Amino acid sequence: MRVLGIETSCDETAAAVLDGGVLRSSVVFSQDAIHRSYGGVVPELASRRHLEVALPVVENALADAGARLPDLDGIAVTAGPGLVGSLLVGLSVAKGLAYAHRLPLVAVNHLEGHVFAGFLTEPRPEHPFLALVVSGGHTALYACPEPLVYRLVGQTRDDAAGEAFDKVAKLLGLGYPGGPVIERTARAGDPRAIPFPVADIRDGAPDFSFSGLKTAVSLFVRREGPLGSERVADVCASFQATVVKMLVRRTIRAAQRLGIRRILLTGGVAANRALREALEVECAERGYAWSAPPLRFCTDNAAMIAAAGAARLARGERADLALNARPSWPLGGAAA
Ligand code: KG4
Ligand code: ZN
Repeated sequence: MRVLGIETSCDETAAAVLDGGVLRSSVVFSQDAIHRSYGGVVPELASRRHLEVALPVVENALADAGARLPDLDGIAVTAGPGLVGSLLVGLSVAKGLAYAHRLPLVAVNHLEGHVFAGFLTEPRPEHPFLALVVSGGHTALYACPEPLVYRLVGQTRDDAAGEAFDKVAKLLGLGYPGGPVIERTARAGDPRAIPFPVADIRDGAPDFSFSGLKTAVSLFVRREGPLGSERVADVCASFQATVVKMLVRRTIRAAQRLGIRRILLTGGVAANRALREALEVECAERGYAWSAPPLRFCTDNAAMIAAAGAARLARGERADLALNARPSWPLGGAAA
């Protein structure tokens, strides 16, 4: 099955061709440069840029794959969750191409896409596994008992982990996106320098919370006044260590409770090496298997959308041309 994936849910315009499970091309046009000066994604600017580059990005993905539209077996497009204006651009392109070339169309949940990023390379997670999806918009744990089945086990009660990285980078004046620059800056710092608090979830749910940490960093910066570069590195290292501790602790706790011994780490924040290493250590201690996609498939891309779409097309799922954006589309039901 040859599938074109299209992804425009946030600030990356992406297209990819997957052929019989083999990735033939993956093109990602990043809008970081546009949003950098604002310290975050400006939705109106994101939609406009998607409009300008979506078709060329699709053309490049097809050219890289040596594929033509009539050779495809289907088009998979992210329908949500995400920014409504951004989603609508990808949907319009996908619907137009599907209609013009009489191709099957399938709607993909962006979070399911992040889970499928884990299946683009070896080692692929075996079911049942626990997926920690950590991105700029989401921080959630899903139990995945069998293919295409997701049970929400825990999620953030306020900010997403990536959002916390972005906000802390902004208040330190480090730029956008925050994750990569904080990770880089943290290398020169001491993760034990500042004991930021790990939020306690009183009812014991494997949920996450990052807004208190963000406030703690903000108060610290205000109290200590202008920080020299060594102190900024310490703040980055200590903040990152606290986020990592919360993510790893809650994930391991959920895995223990559910009796699941395999963990998939995915989403933009899964690109963070400190997080990957900490999870690796904790999993090794308990004899758990863990995997995470290569860095380029952690952040938003269309290869993961094509992969999820191929699985859904194979099941006979089809979307019609009335398909609309679903900005808050949840993945899976409540915890079992
Ligand atoms: O999955 P993604 O590309 O987009 C969403 O679906 O949100 O995730 C983007 C988020 C941003 O908040 C960015 O700061 C964060 O992922 N991120 C990182 C790293 N690379 C990207 N966070 C921590 N460390 C990184 N190396
Ligand atoms: Zn994402």
